[in-house]
Amino acid sequence: MTNPLDYQTSRRLSGTEEATYSQRGKAIINQLSILLKTARVHSPDNDSFKAQLEQSYQLYRDCLDEYGETVVQVQSDYLFFCGARVRYDNEGLAAPDHLRDLFQRAGISGFLTTSDLTKAELEQTALLLNEADRQGDLDFEGLQRRFDLANIGAVALLPPMDEKSSDENRDREERQFARRTFFYAMNNLKMVSNTMNADRPVDLARTKRVIHSLVDQIVSDDGSLLELTALKSHDQYTFLHSTNVCIYSICLGARFGLTKSELSTLGFAALFHDIGKTRLPLQVLNKPSDFNESEWELMRKHPALGVFTLAKTMPFEERCCRAMIVASEHHYNLDGSGYPALKRRRSLNLYSKIVTICDVFDAMTSGRVYRKVPASPEQVLRGMIPQAGYKFDPCLLKVFLNTVSLYPPGTLLLLDRHELALVVGKNADDLLRPKVKIVGTTQRLYDRGIRMNLADRNPQTGAYYRSIVRVAEPQEFKINTARYLLDEE
Ligand SMILES: [Fe+2]
Ligand SMILES: [Fe+2]
Repeated sequence: MTNPLDYQTSRRLSGTEEATYSQRGKAIINQLSILLKTARVHSPDNDSFKAQLEQSYQLYRDCLDEYGETVVQVQSDYLFFCGARVRYDNEGLAAPDHLRDLFQRAGISGFLTTSDLTKAELEQTALLLNEADRQGDLDFEGLQRRFDLANIGAVALLPPMDEKSSDENRDREERQFARRTFFYAMNNLKMVSNTMNADRPVDLARTKRVIHSLVDQIVSDDGSLLELTALKSHDQYTFLHSTNVCIYSICLGARFGLTKSELSTLGFAALFHDIGKTRLPLQVLNKPSDFNESEWELMRKHPALGVFTLAKTMPFEERCCRAMIVASEHHYNLDGSGYPALKRRRSLNLYSKIVTICDVFDAMTSGRVYRKVPASPEQVLRGMIPQAGYKFDPCLLKVFLNTVSLYPPGTLLLLDRHELALVVGKNADDLLRPKVKIVGTTQRLYDRGIRMNLADRNPQTGAYYRSIVRVAEPQEFKINTARYLLDEE
């Protein structure tokens, strides 16, 4: 049996595993809550209690037969089942709230059950937990003694968790997971592009899985993936740029209220918006100096080339048709200008309007295509605002500004102690004080960045530890921002 003290609530699961555990966990948590509530009003020989016990035991039996052991645990206010966070929409929160409160009053973070669990042991567990909940004055050891006395061998109580360190561990794991998904998405795009350029039909199963994983991560917390969009590279410009645009678009769409399935279609279209560029000569794409007129003419063909490529290699599905629309429309502006030239003005697709905003933002902060020197994210956003209503949909631009916030990831800041800090995330409660990595001082750069939350204050005085003086340019201090963004692990 796993030592309950060693059990890793936040162990990493694949997207499919996580979804399955979350589903099973939801059923178990709901049923446990019903059983405990029934036990509160009925004695064990009551028919309603017996029926609920039978149902709970059957659910447990199914899971135990499949997984060998199960764990229900609370960590940082979230419920986990077998290491997977059990996700709830806004509805159906009564059962998790009930269990969370009950565990807290009983002095435990949860419990583990092994495969030899008997119905009698489950019944005893429900009765003892209810008793502990009612009394509310038991600590972990006290409840453990009662379980020992009742001889419940198949249930191991889990002690309360060290919230701070488990929070930090989970943040770190979230970041590592986001990083793996990000590079997996980019490499998959590279492989798919090669197949497309050979005019061979593509197998989209893997791409769909990647997009689902991106959508899942962004819907639960967009911070870790948004942090990675600050990576810019000239060598892999098109693939990195397309992955970034895909992430920005899903984030914007999520805030705009699109459903998960719509986000998945949007992410798919965003990922392939520039696929036509992979048909252009590399010497033009990677040209270090400005394009001449004939090169511009070639570049302006990439939307049409994109539609051609997608039509030739992808199945006739809704997501592929949407991708074609976005590929053809993403260089049109709201006022009808842009390219390729239109014979008759038409209204643009919502997904195209989303991708256009994300495309311009990423391209301009990358220092490619529109300008050779990258502008700071803050500068780019300031430049985009006056174009609302002409180039960009004003409502979507507003949501985008909210998504990337005032100091988007990758922004370099000069702090009041002459320190330089790279923005890695935002604080939803205080957009003026983002999460950063301190990368050095104006005199000396560090080998590794140090994570810091600019919203942290001295508990004694209430004063902030550090404050922002101004936005700085990475070139000014010769900072390789990607190095610091990836310097963990
Ligand atoms: Fe483009
Ligand atoms: Fe683009």
